[in-house]
Parts: sequence; C-alpha cells; structure tokens
Amino acid sequence: MFVTLYTDKSQVTLTYDIGERPQIIYWGKRLRNTPENQLAHLGQRQYARGAAYEDIQPSLSNELGAGIYGSTGLLAHRAGKDWATSLEVTDVRQHSEQSLTINCYDPRAKIEAVYNIEIDIDTHVIVATTRLKNIGNSPLYLDWCTALSMPLDNRFTRLKSYMGRWSDEFRTQDIPNFRGGYIRENKIGRTGHDGVPALLALADGTTECCGDAVGFHLGWSGNNRVRVDRTIDARSFVHMGEYFFPGEIIIDPGQTYQSPPLYAAWSEQGLNGVSQSFHHHVMHSVLDGRIKDKARPVHYNTWEAVYFDITEDKLISLAEAAAEVGAERFVLDDGWFGGRRCQEKGLGDWYVSEEVLPNGLQPLVDKVRSLGMEFGIWFEPEMVNPDSELYRNHPDWILNAPGVEQVPFRYQVALDLTKPEVVEYLFECMSAVIGKYQVDYVKWDMNRDIHHPGSDGHAATHKQTLALYALMRRLRETYPNLEIESCASGGARADYGVLANTDRIWTSDSNDALDRQTIQRGASYFFPLPIMGAHVGPRNCHITGRELTMDFRAGTAIFGHMGIEADLSKESEEDRHILGNAVDLYKQHRELLHSGKFYRLDTVSYLNAVGVVSNTGNEALFSCAMVDGHPDILPVRLQLTGLLPERQFRLRLVWPKNPNSITQPSPLDHNDLLGEGRVFSGEALMNYGIQLPLMFPLTCLIYHLKEEI
Ligand code: GLA
Repeated sequence: MFVTLYTDKSQVTLTYDIGERPQIIYWGKRLRNTPENQLAHLGQRQYARGAAYEDIQPSLSNELGAGIYGSTGLLAHRAGKDWATSLEVTDVRQHSEQSLTINCYDPRAKIEAVYNIEIDIDTHVIVATTRLKNIGNSPLYLDWCTALSMPLDNRFTRLKSYMGRWSDEFRTQDIPNFRGGYIRENKIGRTGHDGVPALLALADGTTECCGDAVGFHLGWSGNNRVRVDRTIDARSFVHMGEYFFPGEIIIDPGQTYQSPPLYAAWSEQGLNGVSQSFHHHVMHSVLDGRIKDKARPVHYNTWEAVYFDITEDKLISLAEAAAEVGAERFVLDDGWFGGRRCQEKGLGDWYVSEEVLPNGLQPLVDKVRSLGMEFGIWFEPEMVNPDSELYRNHPDWILNAPGVEQVPFRYQVALDLTKPEVVEYLFECMSAVIGKYQVDYVKWDMNRDIHHPGSDGHAATHKQTLALYALMRRLRETYPNLEIESCASGGARADYGVLANTDRIWTSDSNDALDRQTIQRGASYFFPLPIMGAHVGPRNCHITGRELTMDFRAGTAIFGHMGIEADLSKESEEDRHILGNAVDLYKQHRELLHSGKFYRLDTVSYLNAVGVVSNTGNEALFSCAMVDGHPDILPVRLQLTGLLPERQFRLRLVWPKNPNSITQPSPLDHNDLLGEGRVFSGEALMNYGIQLPLMFPLTCLIYHLKEEI
C-alpha cells in the first residue's frame, strides 16, 4: 500500500503493509501524473552476487533487525538483549494531505513506535519525529534514536556542512562525493560553535541560485549526532538525533521517548530555494508568533562599550548616546548583579548589585523608557561561578560526574536544571527582576561547554535541555510580551529547538564586520534575517584588532536584526552621524528586509553579495561587500537574482551615503545612482549585471531597486 503527503510543489511517498516495515520511497518534486505504484515498479531492485539473496529494504528507523547495510536509526536493547529491533506497521493514519502518523510495533523487543510526518503546505518543509514506547516489562536502554531515517536521493553527491569556533561561527565546509560516512558528533551540552545540527546536500552543478538541493536541521539544543552514509547497497541516508551518553535514556515500562524534530527542505532553485523554505518555516511555524508583526527594534547592547565597568552614570550616558543615533531597545549586558565585577565571580546571584547600582535599576530603566527605548537585560541562568553566594549555599546544585574533576571553563559550572528546586530558584530570581522592571527583553546566555552533564550520577543532557525549554516557556507564559535572545558565547546555541522558545539568536561575539560578512552568510542557510542579531561594533574590533570604517560596519549590520555594541562617545562625530544614517536606512527598509525572499548571490570570491526581494517582486535591496582586493584592474559586474525579468526597476545606491570611488567618474556617477538613479529591466540586472565601481576593499554597497510602473 502507498501513502503520499504533498503540497503543490513537493511530495513524499511511503509504502507499507500491515505487519511489515514501512519505507519512504520518494521525496522531491510533486509528481502529478504518476500513480504511486509506478515509483515502486521503477525502484525494483534485484539480487546481487555476494550479497543477501533478497534486497534488504530500509525503513523509517533502519532497524538492525532488518539486517541493513548502512547506519541504523535505532539502537535499543534490554540490558544487552532484544537489540535486533524491527518495527512493523500496525496502523497508518493520514490526517490530511500534509500529515500522517504511522504506528509500528516490534513484537519481540516490545517497542511501540509512532512516526509523525508532516509537510508544510506553504514552505514544503518536512517535519518528522519518532516516539518510542516501552511495552515490555523491563527497562529499555536507548542508545540512539533518530527523528527519521531520511533517504538521500543519489543525485545529491556533495554536502555542505558547518564548522567554526568561538567568534567565527557558521563557517561552511564543502564535502565532495564520498563513500562511507560523514559524521558530526556534539556532546558539549549546547548546540556548539562548530556545528549547528544541520547540513545541505547538493546535486552536481547546484549553486546558490540554481539546481537541486536539500537541507536538514535537527531542532535540538543539546547533544546531537548528524551522519550521512553512502553504503555498499547504493543507498544514502541522513540520520540526525540526540547523542546519548551511556545510560542516559532508559525507558521504563509504559514510558516513552520522543525524538527532537527533523526539518527537511527540498528545492530545484539551488541553495537559496532551500533557505527560503527554512526561513519561511522558522518565521511562521518555529517561532511562536507573538512578535510576528512587530518591527524588529534597533538594539543598543552595553557589552563591548563597558564590559564589567558599570556605573549608573555611564549607563545613562550610553543610553542617551544610543537614543541619539536611533536605538529603540537598550540591553544591559553582564555585570549588573551580585558580586559580578569580573568573569570569576557572582554568576548565579541574580539580584541588582548595590555596589555598582546603589539606586537599583529604576533610574536607568526610567531613563531608557523616557528616551523611547525598550529595556532588556542579560542573564546566564544555567550557570554559576563557584565564587558566588548561590554556589556556597548549594554546592550540590550542579551537573557533574561524581569524583571526576570539572573541566575548567570560564570559571563557571552548570546548574542542574533537572532538579525542580534549581528551576524554582531561577524562575523566582528572574521573575523578580523581569516583573519589577517590566523587562521587555532577556539576553539569555550560556557560556560554557558541559563536559560532565551528570545528575545524581546519570547523564542528563536530554532532561537538562527539556528543562531549559520549559523554563523559557514558563517565563514567556508569565510575561507574554517578554522576548528572549538565545546567546551562548555568541552563536553556540542557534537551532530550531531553542528558537521555538526564543525570538532572536546572538549570531557571534565577533562584531568585526569583515568576519560578520561570512558569519551572517553562513547563518543565512538556515536562519532568517529578523532573528539574526547583527551589531555595529567599535572601530577597533575587540576580537580581531581590525580597524573598520563606520560605513562598512553599519552596512554589514543592516542585513540582519540591527544593533549597536560600542561606546559611542569613543566614535567620532562623523561616524556617529554615519551610524544614525544607517539606522534610518535600516528602519526605512526593515519591513522589506524581514519579510522578503532572501538570496545569496553566486559571485567571485572577493565579493559577498546577498539580497532581499519583496514578495510581490516590486522592491529589492542587494548588499555587495568587497571583502578582498580584486585581481583585475576593475571589479566585475554584479548579476542579481530573484527579480521578475519583465519588470523595470529604478536602481539607486543607498549605502554608503558618500561612496568614494577611487577614480571619477564612476559607474555610480554615470547612472546617477546616488541621485535619481536609472531604470533597468529585471532581465538586464540579472543576466548582464551592474558594473561595480572601483572602491577600496572592505566597502559594503547597498543597492535599492523599486519597480517603475
Ligand atoms: C558572552 C556573550 C557576550 C556577552 C558576554 C558577557 O560571551 O556572547 O555577548 O554577553 O558573554 O559575559
């Protein structure tokens, strides 16, 4: 029997028989003229010499009981027995054309599995989970359970995955065709700097703008494993699931385990098509929708301006300077509480420090509000410095492996959120501040890897991660207007699991605009601009020592959720003026930037070009950063994408306001791009392109296109 889920563009088809293992036989373009049995006939395989007499069929968890060649999606046993699992269909329920549930049962291992598969009607994104129930009467040990064994069509020969480090997140790496397995394991208790649990697969010849591509993302902020296997039986599978420490998941009789959701998107329009599906899905289905229609306010964050050197006067003058350049939300970062005068102390003592703020927070909050800004504040709820009142009072509230030394990491250890009293303490402390000052926004940080995630001796990352989500949810339920940013030493907790409970990610601690060009482009494969924090840092970048112009810093921060994170009194008057202009430009275009379709352009390596085209196609903004010198005497033409070819657009350059081309007249002058602009067809802009002016490297040009009717 067959069951198909479909949207107008995409379809997934499964075969099943009651008492047999189910199987996905097709996922891709919607096939309008093809009865499902044609797919089954076309896919018929045969006996191969030197192999099993019958072709071994994959299933939704590629269980070991089937004798599959490649990697499995399920490792479960009863103290070493009943490991040859085989989940056979008992019931299939199609709830709609886009949603189904498949119930399976393993009569020997006594495991029930419920597979939920949905395909989003608007974004064509598949969301799949697996729930297991222990029907036996002894504990079931679960070592691995993926959301789904996801077949990867054999046209997808190349992979693109993430790597990175602190301050250099979302770097991508290309993996050419391979045999065997490609595996990423993360066991540090947070999503991590070096790899979002996500990857892309490309057909030969696929680029940003054209060709077949697919993307996968696990909605989970704890430990995870991502693997792709190409096996001897000429099949490929993507497996994504939680990484469990030994004994971490023992399902008691009658109890269940639910995998995190797998998100999968497919496109014929290159990697941009995959990203657009994911972006839309994040905005409409992953985020909880409370701030769906709210313009994302310009942030001012205090961290790089003052670090721990806080006084009320200083904060008030930062707020005044921020408001002057147009900031709309003031976020007080680390250092306002307990004995937290440096990294080594005070974490966990969540009360306003009288030492630095003898009048409390009220005067600052009042000032911020009187300047027309929202008020936000930093917490790092899951952590404690051993040098803190909290730790001295409750040394037993931390995650650890008994008798094993903690790995030293930013002078802090992780609290055990699986203990209700710990969560209660955090909720009370945070509530006291959020409630009293009507805090609009919490920057929720998490600044260490957790190497020994033990609670009462048992590995507990799974429970810890769920407890974290629950605490976030409880705060949002209690304070319905509260927004939360997910930060973890920059971008180490960016994933769809945390985004279901938060509103923004802090993309990276590097505010170096040159780094940010790459970081934001990398993040954009899975994360949309409205949730991607992008701040204008100081002229001298604190992380890299690089000195960058305000034009470049501000131009880079416009393509994201814009903010500022610098001591503005140290910026020149001219730079403050330029920043004010950039903030105005962001405000003018944020609706377009945050609602349109996002494109990465295929360009030469010394350019990083991205753009957003409105959903009706009548307006667009394209950013082209010159991230390096060009090898020829002049730079190339920039070919745009995503425009309707038959339409006419007025092209203008809107950033920088005073571009200094090295020689004059430049193409900007020829076409009066700083003034009235000139009208060009979509097809000319896409197929012929815009000759770029001769500029110094580290210039960020932003072109605006408006349909001319
Ligand atoms: C982390 C964050 C920074 C800042 C500091 C404060 O590193 O990523 O943005 O909040 O903590 O300690």
